[in-house]
Amino acid sequence: MSKFAKNQWYAAAWLAELGNTLVARRILDEPVVLFRDSDGKVVALADRCPHRLVPLSMGTLVDRGIQCGYHGMVFDGAGRCAHIPGQDKIPPRAEVRSYPIAERYGIAWIWMGDAARADLTRLPVIDHYDDEGWELIDGGYQHHPSNYLNIVENLMDPAHTTFVHKMTIGNPAAKSEPVKMKKEDDYIVAFKWLFNSPPSPMDRQIKDFGDQSVDRGQFFYYYIPAVSRVDIITIPAGLEPTEENFNKGLRNNSYKFLTPETDGSTHFFWMHLRNYKIGDKEWSQRMRGLFEKTFLEDREIEMAMQRSQEELGVRQFVGLEIDRAPTVAIRMIDRLIKEEAKDSGKVAA
Ligand code: FES
Ligand SMILES: [Fe+2]
Repeated sequence: MSKFAKNQWYAAAWLAELGNTLVARRILDEPVVLFRDSDGKVVALADRCPHRLVPLSMGTLVDRGIQCGYHGMVFDGAGRCAHIPGQDKIPPRAEVRSYPIAERYGIAWIWMGDAARADLTRLPVIDHYDDEGWELIDGGYQHHPSNYLNIVENLMDPAHTTFVHKMTIGNPAAKSEPVKMKKEDDYIVAFKWLFNSPPSPMDRQIKDFGDQSVDRGQFFYYYIPAVSRVDIITIPAGLEPTEENFNKGLRNNSYKFLTPETDGSTHFFWMHLRNYKIGDKEWSQRMRGLFEKTFLEDREIEMAMQRSQEELGVRQFVGLEIDRAPTVAIRMIDRLIKEEAKDSGKVAA
């Protein structure tokens, strides 16, 4: 059974990375090469020449597709062999696997499973992307040398902020707030409200609240298997908590897209949307720096955990109450992988 859910869309690359170059990336433990074909469409092929298994990414981009750097076979965006130097006959097995790609939200999304099932309606949905009155910071990428489930747990766990992020976004008051949880079919959300409190120092830099108190909501969504959204809302104290009112307050939506690289490493893509300081590039620059630093703090912890887990062959020895939401998220992913295995068993039978 695969360790990963394959019939899913995963972020493979930022579209901005894919100019006139070949991008080699290991995804769900398979080598993939991404590039734009002559029409400018992003394509993804298995990064192995079928001749002597040399990575195609060591070759070059040519008019008709990608040319192997060893003996010059050319493959088009669909993975068909278009040319063999010095030979007219193209053997039937001279082809490479091509993966479905969807271009949306500035990202090339890849479908690593059964191509016949690649379903655009299942692409992640990013609220307010391209909406007027929302400002985007995108292009974020970090390589995290840790199993992606460690990162899923981290992203569903508001409790660590106080300790891991002392130097960045940490907030001592967060320590004692109770976290609630809600589970739906394809996502889970852990959330907490801090009612009737003074605005945070950051919120004061954004808006003049005078002596007004605020309600502050923090929602940690995880859409199974690969998308995290942290929704932070500040509204005047006592305002009814509706979507409409949330958008009238200060709102931060931080998205992370986790793409397993191997069993022990993860591509961590991120973007951020806010409904204030529109067009303020300086503020965006500052936020980008803060987020990068915050995610590196998590990375260091996840990396150290990974080392211990590999050494001991276990993930943890004891469970705490704060593990509730992360544990549910992991179970949902686990179930998805099992269902896929069952499904593909049926198809094979
Ligand atoms: S290894 Fe690619 S053409 Fe020979
Ligand atoms: Fe964190």
